[in-house]
Amino acid sequence: MPISEEIIVRSELRWAAISVGVVSVIMIALIYAGLVHHINPPSNIERIDPKTLHLGGEFTEANLGTRVSGDGQVTSRIVATQFTFQPRCVVLPANRRVTLRFATPDVIHGILVSGTNVNTMIVPGYVSQVHTVFTRTGDLLMPCHEYCGLGHSEMSATVRVVPPDEFKPDAEGRVACDAR
Ligand code: CUA
Repeated sequence: MPISEEIIVRSELRWAAISVGVVSVIMIALIYAGLVHHINPPSNIERIDPKTLHLGGEFTEANLGTRVSGDGQVTSRIVATQFTFQPRCVVLPANRRVTLRFATPDVIHGILVSGTNVNTMIVPGYVSQVHTVFTRTGDLLMPCHEYCGLGHSEMSATVRVVPPDEFKPDAEGRVACDAR
């Protein structure tokens, strides 16, 4: 018995509806993640010379770590290298807008801070910048999540989120892990 055209059309429409449904669910999930969980691609483009990163400017050794500027902005500067972070631990206050800035002198790395929406690539030649508000306190693991060589699996740092009243910058506005 030949299949009637009506049955074929109905089957095609059913599959078309399923495809539209799947795409709609993915679109809604993307919009939900963007708006509710603030998960979106980094937007700033800022160049930096990877060869002279450590010689001058904001990513010299003395400038790394957390610093509170005169206007109260909290910024942490971290260099990602094969196969460590410098510094390996940064202190940041909870429930306050903070900025993380990363650069690398060698290859592509990536970081995420576990349990938060912080997640970015670190590409040679560019500064990666992330703004966030940490809502939980404690030592959060910040592993490298982009394969960068043989020591990749050893590459991780700690983000120590402390309650606002325990966040005490020194005279220069700095806060470091070992100072606690
Ligand atoms: Cu750095 Cu993987």
